[in-house]
Amino acid sequence: MTDLLELHKTFLSRHLREGAVAADCTMGNGHDTLWLSRSVGVTGRVIAFDIQEKAVENTSALLASENAPQNYRLLLDSHANLQLRLAEWLGEDARLDACVFNLGWLPGSGDRSVTTLRESTLAAAEAALELLAPDGCLLVAVYPGHPEGAAEGEMLTARFAGLNRREYSAICVRLVNSPASPFFFVVERSDRGRGAGK
Ligand SMILES: C[S@@+](CC[C@H](N)C(=O)[O-])C[C@H]1O[C@@H](n2cnc3c(N)ncnc32)[C@H](O)[C@@H]1O
Repeated sequence: MTDLLELHKTFLSRHLREGAVAADCTMGNGHDTLWLSRSVGVTGRVIAFDIQEKAVENTSALLASENAPQNYRLLLDSHANLQLRLAEWLGEDARLDACVFNLGWLPGSGDRSVTTLRESTLAAAEAALELLAPDGCLLVAVYPGHPEGAAEGEMLTARFAGLNRREYSAICVRLVNSPASPFFFVVERSDRGRGAGK
């Protein structure tokens, strides 16, 4: 059967090339950060966020042990500060070719009290939509099996459904025969940027 995690990569890969700029808004154990770092190569850049020290430590250790290119910045900060922190690092004109959110709590930590929350998720998603380069891609994986995850999914469905079709396409991939299973959004910006498109 189709592996949804592999499908994430299928959607994102087209937007990632040597020299691209990417954001991992939920570092966790660093698997997405590592994949992004390798995908954009030494001339690319990856900015990554998590609010838990353990996540930054785990990601830092993973990237070092896997000899990831030295193209990343790991921040102990909320993804709600995406715009500010990207501008600090790469300048006001920096744009994202790819941006990934994998919502929920730190896998393997046993502590589910620290999880992504609607308010900061929405603030970060709004920033990401603004920061997407022409033909840039935002991927958000949602876990509706717990109440806050379900609420995040509903909130994002409403927000992405309201996006201007001239500027963005918004896809949702989910198992219709398993409503509590994880699902994801792929939002792509027109390759002509703001206000363009059909
Ligand atoms: C499902 S995990 C991410 C898994 C990760 N992509 C990986 O490859 O292991 C979600 C992460 O989001 C983090 N998180 C929660 N709220 C956050 C926020 N406001 N800003 C950044 N990260 C946050 C959690 O601490 C957790 O580590």
